[in-house]
Amino acid sequence: MLIRVRRGWELPESAATPEAVVMGRRAALAAGAALAGGAIAPPALAQSFAPAMRNPRYQPGREVTPERDATNYNNFYEFGSSKSVASAASRLKVSPWSVRFEGLVEQPRELALDDLLKQVQMEERVMRFRCVEAWAMTVPWTGFPVSELVRLAAPKPEAKYVVFQTAAQRDTMPGLRQSWYPWPYSDGCTIEEARNELAFMATGMYGKPLPPQNGAPLRVLYPWKYGFKGSKSVVRVTFQAERPVGYWEKLQASEYGFWANVNPEVAHPRWSQASERLLGTNERVPTRIFNGYGEFVVPLYASLGKERLYY
Ligand code: MTE
Repeated sequence: MLIRVRRGWELPESAATPEAVVMGRRAALAAGAALAGGAIAPPALAQSFAPAMRNPRYQPGREVTPERDATNYNNFYEFGSSKSVASAASRLKVSPWSVRFEGLVEQPRELALDDLLKQVQMEERVMRFRCVEAWAMTVPWTGFPVSELVRLAAPKPEAKYVVFQTAAQRDTMPGLRQSWYPWPYSDGCTIEEARNELAFMATGMYGKPLPPQNGAPLRVLYPWKYGFKGSKSVVRVTFQAERPVGYWEKLQASEYGFWANVNPEVAHPRWSQASERLLGTNERVPTRIFNGYGEFVVPLYASLGKERLYY
């Protein structure tokens, strides 16, 4: 069992009460007591989560969204197409969890999430998130750069794209019975995008483990793209030479494309993207090109003028 207890100065502001650490200790005591009492299997817990130090490089320039709003207004179609999936998603089995690296990698392999997390540097980043449906939130995410995951996967030079696939748990995800959807959910990016410093693998939010409805225990975030590009609850990472077609592109390619970079001037075929509604306050604010992250990502698209970059 791995329980990392950090010192006070290592904790982010948001974790002044380090609930996860307290919970970790309680869980350890409970598990110890259970084992002493003759139980064989320790309880299934998210054991490896610890709050991480905040990285000040990414300043959101906006108020952080109240936690209850960011965790109760979700898109997670595996649990239903409404925004109120938190209760259904609580059935998601998140432990044990492992991630498979495959396709054009030096050595296909499966890593237990706990082992994977021991090999990356965790941090907290407060970043804006923009859904294609024109709502937005600002969240302190805990996790590590996607580039670290790419490093661990060791792709071959021919690998041009990375695909992140969500778990398909038939017994916990009622949405999978809707067979017209292209399960399992997956979407991907170029390897250059995956190596961009902004691309992030989140394991937590608000200084706590990711709740199931937000994609526990591991989800992808591209803060400069529309949120549908980021697969939740990732179990498989595939490296390939061909451009992948994601879940929404398979459903409706004329509305949801491969690049899906945020741009206020390029409307979705059915609605404007000029402004967005902030979860929590419902205030409408202007949308920014690349969701305000242009300084980090503009070079990625310099030679792609003919591509449909913005939806
Ligand atoms: N991943 C999976 N597996 N299933 C989904 O339905 N929805 C996407 C994305 N990732 C989705 C998913 C969409 S459309 C958005 S906007 C975000 O998750 C929503 O993330 P949130 O619920 O944490 O706000």
